[in-house]
Amino acid sequence: MKTPLPSSSSSSSVLRKARLSPYLFTLIAFIVFVAVLYGEDFMCLFGQLELGIDRPLRTEKKRGKLPFAIGKTEEGCDIFSGRWVRDELNRPFYEESECPYIQPQLTCQEHGRPDKDYQHWRWQPHGCSLPEFNATLMLETLRGKRMMFVGDSLNRGQYVSMICLLHRLIPEHAKSMETFNSDSLTIFTAKEYNATIEFYWAPFLLESNADNAIVHRISDRVVKKGSINKHGKHWKGVDIMVFNSYLWWMTGLKMKILKGSFDDEDKEIVEVSTEDAYRMAMRSMLRWARKNMNPKKTRVFFTSMSPTHGKSIDWGGEEGKNCYNETTLIEDPTYWGSDSRKGVMKVIGEVFSQSKFPITFLNITQLSSYRKDAHTSIYKKQWNPLTEEQLANPASYADCVHWCLPGLQDTWNELLFTKLFYP
Ligand SMILES: *[C@@H]1O[C@H](CO)[C@@H](O)[C@H](O)[C@H]1NC(C)=O
Ligand SMILES: *[C@@H]1O[C@H](CO)[C@@H](O)[C@H](O)[C@H]1NC(C)=O
Ligand SMILES: *[C@@H]1O[C@H](CO)[C@@H](O)[C@H](O)[C@H]1NC(C)=O
Ligand SMILES: *[C@@H]1O[C@H](CO)[C@@H](O)[C@H](O)[C@H]1NC(C)=O
Repeated sequence: MKTPLPSSSSSSSVLRKARLSPYLFTLIAFIVFVAVLYGEDFMCLFGQLELGIDRPLRTEKKRGKLPFAIGKTEEGCDIFSGRWVRDELNRPFYEESECPYIQPQLTCQEHGRPDKDYQHWRWQPHGCSLPEFNATLMLETLRGKRMMFVGDSLNRGQYVSMICLLHRLIPEHAKSMETFNSDSLTIFTAKEYNATIEFYWAPFLLESNADNAIVHRISDRVVKKGSINKHGKHWKGVDIMVFNSYLWWMTGLKMKILKGSFDDEDKEIVEVSTEDAYRMAMRSMLRWARKNMNPKKTRVFFTSMSPTHGKSIDWGGEEGKNCYNETTLIEDPTYWGSDSRKGVMKVIGEVFSQSKFPITFLNITQLSSYRKDAHTSIYKKQWNPLTEEQLANPASYADCVHWCLPGLQDTWNELLFTKLFYP
């Protein structure tokens, strides 16, 4: 376990740098609140920004058949551009109580969520229809293979969703879930298939002082330059890789980058813009993929930023409210919210389009941004006992970052399924 570096007054310097409009104050209050209460993952929401990429990423250059492909998505159909339609019949794919692998931070029904509306939505692309998620096909494809999700707790949610989608096909005695490496690595094994589906905790992908999978509520975050192999050595031999990394970079306007080692007495730490730091990580990831993954046999995905719903005013709601008690979708197709995603989206666009390695972008940001109803809100296991003050104002402790399962993240996996088999 890494000892966090002595905390400089990073949050107060952020406060000083920013102009303190009441709007920004609410924002910071939200950030501090999420950071303090959940600590697990949070983002800060600086600035009203929008998507900076106007052309689709050129990441799946047509160079013959991609591994695992069995068909093609209709020419010209962007599966990420579409709308949500009610589906009482075929959604959800599984019941919360049928999937024992969902962590208590995501079991909303068990924690008292009164409605189930959020489970009954299907994503309908404008240009075509998604193929049906075929769990048998997915499992058969994984025979003798490893699939791995690497990233933060949002990627862990997608990982668990994938297991929930598949595990019913495997009898009780033939599956297991274990953790290794002080919980950094979780492995689900389908024994008769000799297949594993794994999750590796690396919120920055690179080595950082938030790498402890359990104790990582660190506000003064430091990422080590050029350190991807520290974690990457555990990813070798994977056949289907799904990366994400975003939330943890959003600590403010700057990121702290360590040049030497975390064990150095005099640590050389420089502050760079979040975008530069993020660019460094994306390049490292792609370099790692190029060196360690065979594009003729394996696939690499990157899941885009998961949006948050911490401020009702973003969608025309009341000031001071958030995703708490939200049960309907945002209907404005142009809705984007106020998360500061523009900068990192632009970085991804630049870095991925220059990539020689064919990485598939799962562009879930826009479609998820309509889903203010789908967060865990107050219906989850709490880290700390709630105070009377909090109980009197539930919105004050609502988690508007993570998502209930079953729910939105099952759709992310339908899209992953589509891109894997019908690129
Ligand atoms: C992601 O999808 C949205 C919705 O279709 C689209 O507006 C946006 O340009 C896409 N982003 C990228 C980087 O392809
Ligand atoms: C699902 O995949 C399996 C294995 O490839 C195949 O036999 C089956 O017909 C598929 N089911 C559907 C509904 O397409
Ligand atoms: C099981 O899968 C691994 C790859 O994950 C492979 O190296 C190994 O040879 C397989 N074993 C058998 C018995 O098929
Ligand atoms: C929740 O929303 C409903 C309307 O959708 C409203 O009637 C109710 O008062 C709200 N509850 C709280 C505690 O805000």
